[in-house]
Amino acid sequence: MSKEVVLSENAGFCFGANRGYNAVKDAISEGIPIYTYGPILNNSFIVKGFEEKGVRVINDLSELDSLPKGKIIIRSHGVSKAEYERLTDSDFEIFDATCPFVKRIHRIVEKESLGGREIIVVGNPRHPEVCGIVGWSVKGATVIENSEEADRFSFDPDKSYCVVSQTTFNRNKFQELVELFEKRSYNILVMNTICDATGVRQTEAEELSKRAEVMIVIGDRQSSNSKKLYEICKSNCEQTYFIQELSDIVGRLPKVSGLVGITAGASTPKYIIEEVQSYVRNDV
Ligand code: F3S
Repeated sequence: MSKEVVLSENAGFCFGANRGYNAVKDAISEGIPIYTYGPILNNSFIVKGFEEKGVRVINDLSELDSLPKGKIIIRSHGVSKAEYERLTDSDFEIFDATCPFVKRIHRIVEKESLGGREIIVVGNPRHPEVCGIVGWSVKGATVIENSEEADRFSFDPDKSYCVVSQTTFNRNKFQELVELFEKRSYNILVMNTICDATGVRQTEAEELSKRAEVMIVIGDRQSSNSKKLYEICKSNCEQTYFIQELSDIVGRLPKVSGLVGITAGASTPKYIIEEVQSYVRNDV
């Protein structure tokens, strides 16, 4: 049997990541100070590359008072309503690159919380996308990440609930949590807000890793969707490697006689995927 290398069809930048990336790339030529509110993508190579071209990352809105005026790009993860208003009320020009799929969650959360429902967000409470989503509820929200937390959550029979998901959450895990919720609450509106790009990538990763002898997942350690791809692949393929760049894998791969599968998170630049692919094809 000879080695076969298969790159997952939808590996790399998703629609939202591409939009945010292009917004910064295009703004650089405008000749005014350019800022991103938080790192534009969860990828340190990209952030560093933009920094070298003069793009600055704003980490706290208090910085707005002392920075030279220019353009601020809101990244695809989105921001809370309070942050959005603070930004748009400032003297800076704002480009909102919030992914439309995330915007949709903001609208659902605002509407349903205004309508009286309690909001439950299934996701990682520390992820900026989730923090932003919570900030669109008019009365706060509960974030639930796993089944232990779901079991501990006490539903009030007199209240109604709306459940949304972080866009990059694992579909199977979301389904499991929803089943736990539905057993315990009668009045629950479930909105599956997992993004298609994530779903497609996860399904491809699942299929590929079932056939692979070795799987390589390329993504930044901070990238939640890359970590989820790793979890999926690792559960099907013991020899799964999670890497950020080519040098992480050079000399580490075993001799492979079967299939090597490659996939990459939504914020992984194309050139890194190509480098890894070419190395695995030609040098392993
Ligand atoms: Fe948007 Fe989905 Fe990407 S929500 S940022 S297209 S992973």
